[in-house]
Amino acid sequence: MCGIVGYIGLKDAYPIVIKGLKRLEYRGYDSAGIALFDGNNLEVTKTKGKVADLERVALEKNSKKGSIGIGHTRWATHGVPNDVNSHPHYSNSEDLVIIHNGIIENYEPLKKELVARGYEFKSDTDTEVLINLIEDVQINEKVSLEKAVQIALNQAIGAYAIAVFDKRQENELIVARLGSPLAIGVGENEFFIASDASPFIEYTSDAIYLEDGEMAKISLKEGVVVSKIKDGVAVDPYIQKLKINLEQIEKGGFDHFMLKEIYEQPHAITDTYRGRLLANEGVIKMAGIDDNIDKFVNAKRIIIVACGTSWHAGLVAEYIFEEFSRIPVEVEYASEFRYRNPIINKDDILIAISQSGETADTMAAIKLAKQRGAFVFGVCNVVGSSISRESHAGAYTHAGPEIGVASTKAFTTQITVLALMALRIAKQKGSIANSQYHYLLHEMEQIPSKVEKVLEQNDAIEKVAEAYKDSDNCLYLGRGFNFPVALEGALKLKEISYIHAEGYPAAEMKHGPIALIDEQMPVVVIATKKGHYEKVVSNIQEIKSRKGKVIGIVTEGDVTVKGLADHVIEVPETLEPFTPLLTTIPLQLLSYHIAVKLGKNVDQPRNLAKSVTVE
Ligand code: M6R
Repeated sequence: MCGIVGYIGLKDAYPIVIKGLKRLEYRGYDSAGIALFDGNNLEVTKTKGKVADLERVALEKNSKKGSIGIGHTRWATHGVPNDVNSHPHYSNSEDLVIIHNGIIENYEPLKKELVARGYEFKSDTDTEVLINLIEDVQINEKVSLEKAVQIALNQAIGAYAIAVFDKRQENELIVARLGSPLAIGVGENEFFIASDASPFIEYTSDAIYLEDGEMAKISLKEGVVVSKIKDGVAVDPYIQKLKINLEQIEKGGFDHFMLKEIYEQPHAITDTYRGRLLANEGVIKMAGIDDNIDKFVNAKRIIIVACGTSWHAGLVAEYIFEEFSRIPVEVEYASEFRYRNPIINKDDILIAISQSGETADTMAAIKLAKQRGAFVFGVCNVVGSSISRESHAGAYTHAGPEIGVASTKAFTTQITVLALMALRIAKQKGSIANSQYHYLLHEMEQIPSKVEKVLEQNDAIEKVAEAYKDSDNCLYLGRGFNFPVALEGALKLKEISYIHAEGYPAAEMKHGPIALIDEQMPVVVIATKKGHYEKVVSNIQEIKSRKGKVIGIVTEGDVTVKGLADHVIEVPETLEPFTPLLTTIPLQLLSYHIAVKLGKNVDQPRNLAKSVTVE
């Protein structure tokens, strides 16, 4: 939810931390702050607004000195976004500072005790409670900062990734994680900390990902010393070689990350099936499935849990799994699943889908399913993320870093991985005809070039965006494999343009939504050939007879819908289960262009954050 960055080394910390915060702004962007220590003074500069506002304030204060620094970009959970609630937070003595991503759930009783002992609080945050608790432990138990952090965290309930600095122990930073990500970059005579590796990838490719329940003392003298929060027992840190590069996390000439990521889809889909899909040999190789093939073949049921766009990918997967693997599938919002009393049997498999691999509700759903004996398979994009580690087995989507808050390439690569899984299992089970299986494998190889063809229509789609940018509402309709695409199209529009949009199965329109249709209402209808085409054409006629405006997403060469709709966008023909990989592209571009024309912040839409690590 928030982004944290830190530096300890011989260079100026300010530019490194600021640049890092800009890379993490996708995680939260309602306020930002930095604490710098120059050997004498520990100075905190913070403000409501974005990192660019922080830079302005730091310039006015001329506070940029120090080779130790920690910074924060916030997505508010406790207390409104304002200067005071921004991080870093001082302790009462102002000797300590903290940055925190997560929530301390029991902050109120802790605060009460601290207030009773004379502590004063400036902000409404749970974080200020934690730093004063650490200070209180230091004072009362006369222990080092590291020990005080450990003792305090054992009293805290909730989720956190924190970095703490004490100006009296000026050569070290203490970090800890539970439920929120934290990576440590290991350089030469310098160390970095961050919520993900993007802030330090240009300085080092060596990283340590702290596990849940671990903390570390970082100093130039001793390096990174990792231990367990619970009992202080030392842990051998594993240094991972990172494979991402700077180019992957920059805009590469595009105006926005979202547009770059939309255009990356042909490549991303290829990366997803590279080495897995061997069409000529009729083979799908997926280690996570191959190693557990009996479990999948004998599964009585698959439960998919996810949130947002990943949930939509799960719905597409439901259609694909049931069609080919003939395993019953239930798709659940992770947030609902975890709070009811779901029936989980021992032959059930839970598939958790998450781009970030950090979504708190999805993580909690996994833990619940594991407690009840289910086998958990993770489909994540971020390598080494919490969900990928918590799962028994999994498959990465290999989409590369997705920075835009609105998911695009994550969606199409999730569908690709899930389709590969379904076909691999279907082949093993014998639930698919050989000829159909081979046909599907060869067709999947054609998808990236077909996505390229859809992208060529960008200019035409921009014109459609111009025509509807001032709409207050928009409906999206689709059937079968494309019903989830309708939901995803509506989500894309509302999250970045703030236009109200709803997705429905096309046939449901007559059960209610049709009442909304008048000459002001644009209706995006996915009407590709095969997928109940004639029925969808009837739905279009129903809309037109009520004077609604129809934007049809049709198969190349379509004439019928062209004759009825106000606009059409063509996608190449493909096999029906793969149509979502094509039909979703124009909907992403339509939302993008509408949002740009309305002057919205496409990559960082209001109130949202890229990874939702709070409940
Ligand atoms: O990282 P995850 O895939 O678990 O994230 C789930 C949702 O928060 C995410 O898909 C969200 O809905 C996006 N903003 C959609 O564009």
